Amino acid sequence: MGKLKLAVIVGSNRSESINRKLAEALVGLVETQVEANFIRIDDLPMYNPDLEGGRPAAVRRFTEEVAAADALLVVTPEHNRSLPAVLKNAIDWGSKPMESNVWKGKVAAITGTSPGAIGTAVGQQHLRQILGILGSLVVGGEAYISFKPGLIDDQGRLAEDSSRAFLQTYMDRLVDLAARLSQTTAEAA
Ligand SMILES: Cc1cc2nc3c(=O)[nH]c(=O)nc-3n(C[C@H](O)[C@H](O)[C@H](O)COP(=O)(O)O)c2cc1C
Repeated sequence: MGKLKLAVIVGSNRSESINRKLAEALVGLVETQVEANFIRIDDLPMYNPDLEGGRPAAVRRFTEEVAAADALLVVTPEHNRSLPAVLKNAIDWGSKPMESNVWKGKVAAITGTSPGAIGTAVGQQHLRQILGILGSLVVGGEAYISFKPGLIDDQGRLAEDSSRAFLQTYMDRLVDLAARLSQTTAEAA
C-alpha cells in the first residue's frame, strides 16, 4: 500500500498560528507513512446558500482536496469555548450539498493547543460532535495541549518526551485506523 493521503486542516487563519506549528510537528511524527496536504481554509467566503448555484473556485478546490484524502487531521484553537468561525465555515461548505458531504466516512483525528489551562478541550468537544454528526469516524481518545513556549523546538519538533510520546500514540492510532478501513473498503470492492 502507498502512503496514506492525510488532509491537514488548521483551524486558525493567523500567520504565526501555534496550531499550525503543532500540526507540522504532528505530521513529522508519521512522515514515513503519510503524504500530508495542508488544506487552506482562510480564503473561503462565508457560507451562503445563494452561492450554491456556482460555487466559488476556492470552495471547489477545498472540497476536492478534502474528498481526495484518506484521512483527516484537524488541529485547532478554541475560540470562546468553541471552534473558530473560520473552521466552522469550512466544515459547513464541505457538508453541502448533503449528497456530496466530504466529511462522511473520513477517519479524523482532532487535537489543538492554546495557552489556556484546558488546552482547547471545550472547542474540541464541539468539533467532535459536529464531525460525528456529519459521518466522520473520529479517532477515540483526547489530546488537549496546553501551549507553553518551548513545546516545539527550533526544528519544529515536539520538545518534551512525554508530550511527544503521547501524541505519537495518537497519530499512530489515526494512521492504523485509516489504513485498516481503506483495506476493508478495498476488500469489499
Ligand atoms: C476570539 C478569540 C477567542 C478565544 N477564546 C479562547 C478560548 O475560549 N479558550 C482558549 O484557550 N483560548 C482562547 N483564545 C486564545 C487562543 O487560544 C490564542 O489566541 C491562540 O494563540 C490561538 O491559536 P492560533 O495561534 O493557532 O491561532 C481566544 C482567542 C481569540 C482571538
